[in-house]
Amino acid sequence: MTTHERSAAPSVASFFSGIGGFDLAFERAGFDITMQCEIDPFCNAILAKHWPMVKKFHDIREVQYADVPSSDVWVGGFPCQDISLARMGSRTGLKGKRSSLFYEFARLIGACLPSIVILENVAGLRNSNGGRDFQTIIHTLAQLGYSVGWRVYNSKYFGVPQSRQRVYIVGCYRERRGPAEILFESECSSGHDSSYRQDEEEPPPTFKTSFGDFSKGPIVQGLAYCLYACSARHTGTDWSRTFVSYPQGKVRRLMPNECEGIQGFPQDWTLPPMLPIDPEKLDTLRYTVLGNAVTVPAVEWMARRIRPVLHRMKETVQESDPTVTRQIPHSEAPGIEASANRSCG
Ligand SMILES: C[S@@+](CC[C@H](N)C(=O)[O-])C[C@H]1O[C@@H](n2cnc3c(N)ncnc32)[C@H](O)[C@@H]1O
Repeated sequence: MTTHERSAAPSVASFFSGIGGFDLAFERAGFDITMQCEIDPFCNAILAKHWPMVKKFHDIREVQYADVPSSDVWVGGFPCQDISLARMGSRTGLKGKRSSLFYEFARLIGACLPSIVILENVAGLRNSNGGRDFQTIIHTLAQLGYSVGWRVYNSKYFGVPQSRQRVYIVGCYRERRGPAEILFESECSSGHDSSYRQDEEEPPPTFKTSFGDFSKGPIVQGLAYCLYACSARHTGTDWSRTFVSYPQGKVRRLMPNECEGIQGFPQDWTLPPMLPIDPEKLDTLRYTVLGNAVTVPAVEWMARRIRPVLHRMKETVQESDPTVTRQIPHSEAPGIEASANRSCG
């Protein structure tokens, strides 16, 4: 059965699943999760807790395209370590050991040609290697037959108090209007700055706004800085700049369950069923996976906008000529080709 013969709920295949940020968001938007691919054991414990019945793959490098269940949408926030400026190390970009896993994702996309693909990464992906890495990604998807669009979203506009900028790349297979319809509103809003507001509502909080009263409890910042993957131990460079303040100048960082909240996950989402004995180790694992995750409401907003586009694509799709096989001419995308037979799963 091909993707287009299915009539039930739309489906999504999740790659680089982490703790299931994409998965939870798409499920909330009415999608079924067909599979999850994640290599990290702690993440897999969290995925197994929330999706015990969903088919699991571990290392994407070992996934065979024929084993991937037929799915309408594929999502993947591939590793950003070789791209992120937050690491303060060298940015090897798509040539790096971890971020080059993009090519593994592209290999599978080329073999299965799902209707819609979404990639997510740090906003700095756009200028990694002087923009050439971003060009490679867009070019690779375009050569496979995808119309491609991208947009940087900040989580603070999606109902969570965290400033987190991430780039989302959307590809729609042979559907020109899809990416723009998914990523962009057709009308301008009135803006969020208080100077533009016509009503009496309070402007949204900024980093400098704080809430609370020392006589009643701690004071919290109204907007948290971007969470990133870090340890529970203070090593001088890995602490958040977001603090909860107590009288006499005492401060603490956000707790793991508070980090869950500002990423839009339910409380205790990252508590595994079998707890590691060392609480500090557990906190480090939770901070790390939450810092790597997508903000759930931001993805949910996109997932809801995908549904009508997908519906239109299913109605109008013309099956491709299965004899066509196109090679990507770009030297940085070796061996990735569009099989155009869409026979996965
Ligand atoms: C940026 S995180 C994605 C987080 C995810 N979007 C979420 O919301 O939790 C990238 C993930 O890719 C996983 N990963 C790294 N190498 C992998 C591989 N070879 N195969 C599958 N997953 C891998 C990492 O363990 C990490 O969880």
